[in-house]
Amino acid sequence: MDAPDVTVNGRAVPFAGATPHTTALDWLRGLGLTGAKEGCAEGECGACSVMVARPGVDSPTEWTALNACLMPAAQLAGQEVVTAEGLADGDVLHPVQAEMAARGGSQCGYCTPGFVCSMAAEFYRPGRVPTSSTTEEAGEDDADHECGPNGFDLHALSGNLCRCTGYRPIREAAYAVGQADDADPLTARTRQHPPATTYAEVSADGARFVRPADLPALLDLLAEEPDAVLVAGSTDHGVEVNLRGARPPLTVAVDRLDELRGFTLADDHVELGAALTLTEIERRLAGRLPLIGQMTAQFASRLIRNGATLGGNLGTGSPIGDAAPALLALEAEVVLASAAGDRTVRLADYFTGYRTSVREPGEVIRAVRIPLPARGLTAFHKIAKRRFDDISSVAVGFALDLEDGVVTAARIGLGGVAATPIRARATETALEGRAWNADTVAAAADVLGGEGTPLDDHRASAAYRAAMLRTSLLKLHAEHPGTSERATA
Ligand SMILES: Cc1cc2nc3c(=O)[nH]c(=O)nc-3n(C[C@H](O)[C@H](O)[C@H](O)COP(=O)(O)OP(=O)(O)OC[C@H]3O[C@@H](n4cnc5c(N)ncnc54)[C@H](O)[C@@H]3O)c2cc1C
Ligand code: FES
Ligand code: FES
Repeated sequence: MDAPDVTVNGRAVPFAGATPHTTALDWLRGLGLTGAKEGCAEGECGACSVMVARPGVDSPTEWTALNACLMPAAQLAGQEVVTAEGLADGDVLHPVQAEMAARGGSQCGYCTPGFVCSMAAEFYRPGRVPTSSTTEEAGEDDADHECGPNGFDLHALSGNLCRCTGYRPIREAAYAVGQADDADPLTARTRQHPPATTYAEVSADGARFVRPADLPALLDLLAEEPDAVLVAGSTDHGVEVNLRGARPPLTVAVDRLDELRGFTLADDHVELGAALTLTEIERRLAGRLPLIGQMTAQFASRLIRNGATLGGNLGTGSPIGDAAPALLALEAEVVLASAAGDRTVRLADYFTGYRTSVREPGEVIRAVRIPLPARGLTAFHKIAKRRFDDISSVAVGFALDLEDGVVTAARIGLGGVAATPIRARATETALEGRAWNADTVAAAADVLGGEGTPLDDHRASAAYRAAMLRTSLLKLHAEHPGTSERATA
């Protein structure tokens, strides 16, 4: 065991009593901090939400709400965490707790500690500023952007479920909280850097959890032990451990390696570090690649996006991951690092079969590179049973250039219709060089409906998936009948 103390609610606590597979939730509850609850153990309910000091985009540190049920406790070694018990100042409730109490936002209370942690993370978000009107007052019917007069983004709570209260009082509480006081110790903490991540090792029951100090150390370790399981945001890994009993002998944390967390915006490409979270990517891109923004907005919940990474999404090789269809349409490349150096693979050539890829043992996804300029007409259509926080039945990423009414280039990525994410090449051919009009689109939509080899499963039938593909292109045309959409930057 070589694991530094954890700062829990401002006090140093020795990291002890956890195996490599103990969750942060179980470890915290073992300390007597039983506010955070286990509702589902799979990232769906948010009863386990806690705040972790993570590197910020708009300030050195941001209090980031994460699902403690998914995170290995060992990932907290040397880090700083605040639970619901750490919010009040003695008998004085924290502003989010006070508003929840005053507005009847809690009944049985099971979900409440998770809600207040997600709410407090949004309360302290540096970019949260009062707005002149809420989305409702502005008459906007836009479920993607629900914001209170205090700048509170309601999607901060999209990963929290309540079974008894009803969401109106909770929303009222969220929209009633004021601005964070400069003297508040948790506000003050955001102005300092988060704890550094240094080497840590936890071993028990014949299993090890290692946090390498840097990329060379990771690659050396993988060269010796190529079967090690990598963990970044743990939003897939945690489900494997909790629900499917996965107990890998060696788990290696890559979530905070600087070399995997770069963000480069160059004239001819954007490079996104594989261990940047989806929230960080959204915030850093700030709308620059609308297709990525549309994809992330529909990806799980804010709680999940605060942990989930692109490296994890591509690393699982899942045919229903949402990143791949968008990235295929953008003709992204995957940068793979190993002890032998970096190599770059087109994402279109990356997947080789169901959950398999060209990634060799000992290789790690270091980054995803997207060429610029991006195409002018882009869209991400996710067909799922729920509007938010659901896995895709089918996902389609579109990236088209139109000039003078003609489709000059078409790139379409598909998820959920084959053993791997695929490019819809026959549809691309059916569009390119043709007028962007109802006839072309109807013909190409028929081609799109025949792409891939969709399966019947519990999410959707093959016929439904094919129909959704077809409708997706018709919808794109209906929403964008314009004739000139070519990007210049
Ligand atoms: C409630 C819930 C909702 C979800 N909703 C969605 C959704 O809407 N859309 C969607 O696509 N997914 C969804 N997911 C799945 C998951 O959140 C994503 O796949 C996520 O991107 C995984 O990233 P991670 O960093 O958490 O991966 P982790 O769980 O940390 O890692 C998963 C696997 O990826 C590999 N890996 C991680 N990093 C690297 C790397 N740098 N190089 C190589 N391999 C690596 C490892 O094999 C690891 O075992 C959901 C999950 C949950 C629990
Ligand atoms: S216990 Fe449900 S999200 Fe963690
Ligand atoms: S108050 Fe009972 S689950 Fe939310």
